[in-house]
Amino acid sequence: MAKKSDKSTEEVGQASEAQIAVHWREEGYYFPSAKFIGQANASDPAIFERFSEKNYPECFKEYGDLLTWDKYWHTTLDTSNAPFWKWFVGGKLNASYNCVDRHLKTDRNKAAIIFVPELEDDDTEVITYQELYARVNEFAALLQGFTSLKTGEVATFHMPMVPELPVAMLACARLGIIHSQVFGGFSGAACGGRIADSKSKVLVTMDGYYRGGVLQDHKVKADEAVARALEEGVVVEKVLVFRRNPGEYASKSPMVPGRDFFVDEIMPDYKGKLVEPVSMPAEAPLFIMYSSGTTGKPKGCQHSTGGYLAYVTGTSKYYQDIHPDDTYWCAADIGWITGHSYIVYGPLSLGTTSVMYEGIPTYPDAGRPWRIAERLGVTHFHTAPTTIRTLRKVGPDEPAKYNYHFRHMTTVGEPIEPDVWRWYHESVGKGEATIVDTWWQTENGGFLGSTMPALHPMKPGSCGPAVLGVFPMILDENGEEVKAGSGKAGNICIRGPWPGIFQTIWGDPDRFVATYYEKYNRNKKSTDWHDWPYFANDGAMQAADGYYRILGRVDDVINVSGHRLGTKELESAAIMVDAVAEAAAVPVIDDIRGHAVEMYIALKPGFSPDGVDEQVSRMIETEIGKVARPKSVWIVADMPKTRSGKIMRRVIASISNFTDVGDITTLANPEVVEDIRHYVQSEKVAHGEQPRELSEAELATIKGFGSAE
Ligand code: WT7
Repeated sequence: MAKKSDKSTEEVGQASEAQIAVHWREEGYYFPSAKFIGQANASDPAIFERFSEKNYPECFKEYGDLLTWDKYWHTTLDTSNAPFWKWFVGGKLNASYNCVDRHLKTDRNKAAIIFVPELEDDDTEVITYQELYARVNEFAALLQGFTSLKTGEVATFHMPMVPELPVAMLACARLGIIHSQVFGGFSGAACGGRIADSKSKVLVTMDGYYRGGVLQDHKVKADEAVARALEEGVVVEKVLVFRRNPGEYASKSPMVPGRDFFVDEIMPDYKGKLVEPVSMPAEAPLFIMYSSGTTGKPKGCQHSTGGYLAYVTGTSKYYQDIHPDDTYWCAADIGWITGHSYIVYGPLSLGTTSVMYEGIPTYPDAGRPWRIAERLGVTHFHTAPTTIRTLRKVGPDEPAKYNYHFRHMTTVGEPIEPDVWRWYHESVGKGEATIVDTWWQTENGGFLGSTMPALHPMKPGSCGPAVLGVFPMILDENGEEVKAGSGKAGNICIRGPWPGIFQTIWGDPDRFVATYYEKYNRNKKSTDWHDWPYFANDGAMQAADGYYRILGRVDDVINVSGHRLGTKELESAAIMVDAVAEAAAVPVIDDIRGHAVEMYIALKPGFSPDGVDEQVSRMIETEIGKVARPKSVWIVADMPKTRSGKIMRRVIASISNFTDVGDITTLANPEVVEDIRHYVQSEKVAHGEQPRELSEAELATIKGFGSAE
């Protein structure tokens, strides 16, 4: 919830940055309990000294040493081809071995994964490390024997939240095949675009999965994906289809002979087979994860084997405070980086028990997560603010009804309002759990900003200081450093690389350099990391105590429920509708989702507006997925534009959010602004939308929107 203030919206909009800082300092500290500190993996402040700048980059040896190497590395960080950093060079290892095989000796009968199906009457499935080993080996044998995939090639997955997904990921890792999991909620077309970009010959999917109690037809998306990939010139040779319910087929879409295969039908040939893990160079790619940015095409973030695995293992140990006998539940989807790092690779590398839940947290009611926690004895809970807001809204008193006790909780993916944080702490955590607010991105592999749970106090709404071995600075547009406690915001950058950083954008190294390094690079020829600050594309400010407050994206990415949606991707989908001449996507502040999307549409001459709003929404669902469905589609006579013809997104974003539109005198057509404002805002009020004052962080997002081009 936004802080109420008695200033008018207009005055808030003009609040100086110094006032903002004063406002933010109002949040007090919360301290971890003595009980928590007593058991924490990091409870001695000497760890900060070990990871201090004078020990960088060798400090990361400590993370590398958490892994089992086939061959030890000779160079911790190689900067010779900056900014394409290489970590643990000379080292060889296998990620699947590290997450599975190495635990067999002591922990073969420990649960590796506990899968909770969405239907509450269905049995929980416990997969021990031994069983995981068997399944990973069998699926690796199948990939080897039944597909043409070779080490270094890409397999695309479009899988829901079922244990077959981590099994398939680890099977790829075993063979050095690069996996590219596309979020199951994305459309077939979106999946197809990613298949084409990564040139995958194989798609791994499932016939259906449960969502809201209903078995969804998911295989139909595979057909759309394969068709879209073909349009873009890539032929998918095989589609491997898992069945959600054995012996049944959840989809209406026919299996294409010679292309589509049920995994359960081909598996008998590979039952009980073992496959030697392939010893991979540390810098071999482990996976690709697509994410959105300023331009239309999603970016395939390529992550390494050694650096990535070391980083997620180290941060899981110290920041997630995972111990081998914990029951750790990260309620993210494995289709996002959070799930890769903190459901699969980090927790399994540490040999703990990782819980996976198939469905939506409020199914069948808002007590579900707490029943799961009670039943399984969950010790750690990890989720996004959007879920916390939903659970608070629909079931504020539910946590108290269940007998569970979290020791540690995480929030990730978007800023959390202090009010929401306090509910999380008091009601969900029962005042006992230590919370970390972790700031990072798909590109980063693991956390960048977080408190060290036993050593730093928590401050609601701030992620805390930077994590071990990560040295941020906030820069203004001229590259001048903005000091902590100055009350000013700027662009948060990381001064040197860390092992989890992505290696490049798949197939587009120039875009990699341009997006993340060009802005603040001091010398393009330099091989000194000091000359290459990583530009995170987030606005932030640092309080005098060193804690960072993340304001949100500066690259026109809209963060809906913690999911990154690119403005350009939304707009390109909208203009695929026949009647649409121009489209602009803007964020509107939403009490549950953080942001929601609103589309502004100008029609081609001679086209009727009838039904265009629904066509636009449907096209966005088809091209991207249901997560991107706009809250509203506004059809306007003309877009506000600069004299050079650029759509002024900050003006329409202000209208959608009932905030001051600011200076419009330099527009080519300032007269349209009032017409749009009147139309949109009176419609909103007529539909019961209550304009509310925005917090400073929310205002910053709206006022700065559309400036990335
Ligand atoms: C963007 C990255 C991190 C994994 C899941 C999202 C925003 C992320 C926080 C946080 C405020 C946050 C940033 C970032 N963000 N964590 N704790 N507080 N904002 O990964 O989809 O790549 O999104 O999410 O704006 O750039 P992603």
